[in-house]
Amino acid sequence: MLSKIKEATLYLRAKTDYQPRVGIILGTGLGGLVEHIDIKLAIPYEEIPHFPVSTVEGHSGRLIFGELAGVPVVAMQGRFHYYEGYAPEQVVFPVRVMKMLGISALFVSNAAGGINSTFRVGDVMVITDHINLIPNVLIGKNHDELGPRFPDMFEPYSKELIAAATAEAERLNIKLQYGCYVGTTGPTFETPKEYGYFRFIGGDAVGMSTTPEVIAARHMGLPVFGVSIITNAAFSGQKSTHEEVQQEGRKAEKRMTALFSALVTKVK
Ligand code: HPA
Repeated sequence: MLSKIKEATLYLRAKTDYQPRVGIILGTGLGGLVEHIDIKLAIPYEEIPHFPVSTVEGHSGRLIFGELAGVPVVAMQGRFHYYEGYAPEQVVFPVRVMKMLGISALFVSNAAGGINSTFRVGDVMVITDHINLIPNVLIGKNHDELGPRFPDMFEPYSKELIAAATAEAERLNIKLQYGCYVGTTGPTFETPKEYGYFRFIGGDAVGMSTTPEVIAARHMGLPVFGVSIITNAAFSGQKSTHEEVQQEGRKAEKRMTALFSALVTKVK
């Protein structure tokens, strides 16, 4: 795996000497942040050696190098989900490559079902912790060059970045929620009892991504900032559909984009 990561990194390095400071993963229906990036180079995933190719609707699949609010970033437009059938190490392959490209923080976003009944559809939830219910991406041989065998997960989401986001959101007049993200394999949405169970164990939102990438990032010592866009009120007992998730994602995109643009400038 290590040699594949290095090959992909070398391929990208041969294309550009651009030095991104922040890596960004855009979730379902949230790809529009890209319109705010002053793009220097966009590379379709299929051109990058060993990169998996995204299959899910609403994900277009490009690695984008450019400036967001004057800060050099690399953004994944489209991510890889466990439910698509990828091996766990493939799901996080791009995160490994972005780290090798030299990023010093990872920003992640996703669409999620709200299980905290005080949340509303369209809310932006800052992820303060997670419960990972997807097979752990670090199972198997550990590559000491990437990180330790037993990484601690005491601060999965950077307290410093959460504090900075809170200050920026106040300045921008963006309402934030805070909470715990439950990462499941999907692809089924939850049964009513499953939603109740995830609430009972401490979750505020549930989705089918993010925890693998955050685990890989923390394994490599990267500070992480994450947000969930609440696209459906799972506690309401109403059905969830992929179309609804995409639609609500697009509506909240503006606020998330404003927050990410302000926060990238705070990363050293
Ligand atoms: N459950 C799981 N994943 C999701 C949901 C949900 O309710 N909404 C958006 N992604």
